[in-house]
Amino acid sequence: MQPTIPRAVTTVHASADLMPASPMNPFSGIGLALAGLLLVAAALLPAGAARAADAQALYVQSLAATCANCHGTQGKAVKDAVLPGLAGMKPEYLTEQMQAFRNGTRQATIMHQIAKGYNDEQLKLLADYFASQK
Ligand code: HEC
Repeated sequence: MQPTIPRAVTTVHASADLMPASPMNPFSGIGLALAGLLLVAAALLPAGAARAADAQALYVQSLAATCANCHGTQGKAVKDAVLPGLAGMKPEYLTEQMQAFRNGTRQATIMHQIAKGYNDEQLKLLADYFASQK
């Protein structure tokens, strides 16, 4: 004889019980509409441009941070470090080396693997960032 499998409580009921529709619930209709309006308002504020610039600066810093373990924070190598710092390096040189690591024309122990993780646009951002660090 086949055992009767009890039907699971429907997810519709479960979620309805967990999230009663009320204006205070951010997932209810009114809350959602308000959140949408706020997002639109935030995007239209003049400060939106400044925020985009901040976001871009953060993005570049986070890219550069992936080099910090070995080449120093902001590319500034500590005294007597074995690895060269990247701060103040000519951007063309940095880009060329990274591309050479990536395509294997410059032999490396580590950098050929790391360089594969960055596209040309990211390499340019990195090169400009490190060149501007003094
Ligand atoms: C795990 C350690 C490590 C990390 C992380 C690292 N590097 Fe390197 N880097 C090296 C080593 C080691 C060398 C020497 C070449 C080799 O053997 O790989 C080097 C060499 C270089 C050189 C050549 C320097 C010269 O004088 O010719 C450049 C440019 C460079 N790295 C850029 C970067 C950038 C940009 C990042 C971040 C995206 C980065 N590295 C992250 C270890 C690292």
